[in-house]
Amino acid sequence: MEPGTLILYTDRPDHGVRLRGALDRIAPCRVLTIHDRAGGDAAGCAGLVADVDLLRPAAVQALRGLVASAGPGTPLICLMHGMGARSTAAARALGASLCLPVDTAPHVVTEAMLAHVQPGRSLAEAVVARGAYRAGAVITGLLDAARSTGTVDAAAIEGGLDPILTAVGAGGLTNWLATVRSYDDATYQHCLLVAGLAATFAIDLGFSERDRHQLVRAALVHDVGKARIPLAILNKPGPLDPAERTVMRDHAAFGHEILVAAGGFDPTVLAVVRHHHELLDGSGYPDGLSGGAIPDPVRLTTICDIYAALVERRPYRAPMPSAEAIGVLKGMTGKLDMALVHAFARTVSGS
Ligand SMILES: [Fe+2]
Ligand SMILES: [Fe+2]
Repeated sequence: MEPGTLILYTDRPDHGVRLRGALDRIAPCRVLTIHDRAGGDAAGCAGLVADVDLLRPAAVQALRGLVASAGPGTPLICLMHGMGARSTAAARALGASLCLPVDTAPHVVTEAMLAHVQPGRSLAEAVVARGAYRAGAVITGLLDAARSTGTVDAAAIEGGLDPILTAVGAGGLTNWLATVRSYDDATYQHCLLVAGLAATFAIDLGFSERDRHQLVRAALVHDVGKARIPLAILNKPGPLDPAERTVMRDHAAFGHEILVAAGGFDPTVLAVVRHHHELLDGSGYPDGLSGGAIPDPVRLTTICDIYAALVERRPYRAPMPSAEAIGVLKGMTGKLDMALVHAFARTVSGS
């Protein structure tokens, strides 16, 4: 069982879907129904939510088995289908940490569980931590696969998109940046920062769900070509010299090659990966594109990418304060799309 897993034991599968969705925003959540053979299945779980009628002896017996296998001290929240004396006595006998009415909103149940399993952490912080963990697993898998096999699995990236959009939407960009900036690996930290910025930008610009996913997908994979850059350069604990910078610049074309060879990536994602270092005045790389040849999703990602690089924590320099980084973007007149830079500044300052 994944560490921190919550178990939802339910006799209402329809409601269980919504509650599972809410709980899954703070921790992995497994659903067991009264039809499952539950005994012993809760070993190692962090918390239990019981949404069963405690007047049903079979449900109580199965729940007792779950509580026993979970071990002493595991929080148990009972959603009470009735508040009669027999139900409350059954909940007390099971050692319930908290009893809530059956119609309690899923996010309230989730906050109540959070107070037990991660005391002192706000819901926003928990949602961000979980989203960063899930998206982090995707980006780690992507970079490891690109480095070890030279290819990536387009389908595996999909699992990272909603956790990022949910995390910045519910937890806020500031929480996302603070959480992700604490990671040590520079490439991993950078990809998650750019993806979180792109997600927030896409939400603020009113993008459709499809377009949000597309931009976050592109942002998440934009630097996959760094998998082909020697680690001595990639993880150098200091600024790159001109020769190293030349090697590093190959990552844009490498990333494009990797994704074309892997297949399954749409033209927008391919364009972002190849062209996110192009500048409107033609001074960027690898193709020296200029003006109208650079599509909007690329322009958006470039802005997120430059901002992320400036505010990142590096071993050899302090992160640049946000306002200063925005000042750098605003100073790149002629190179960046200034209408988008101003919209991005509002996105960052509104967080
Ligand atoms: Fe890049
Ligand atoms: Fe980048």
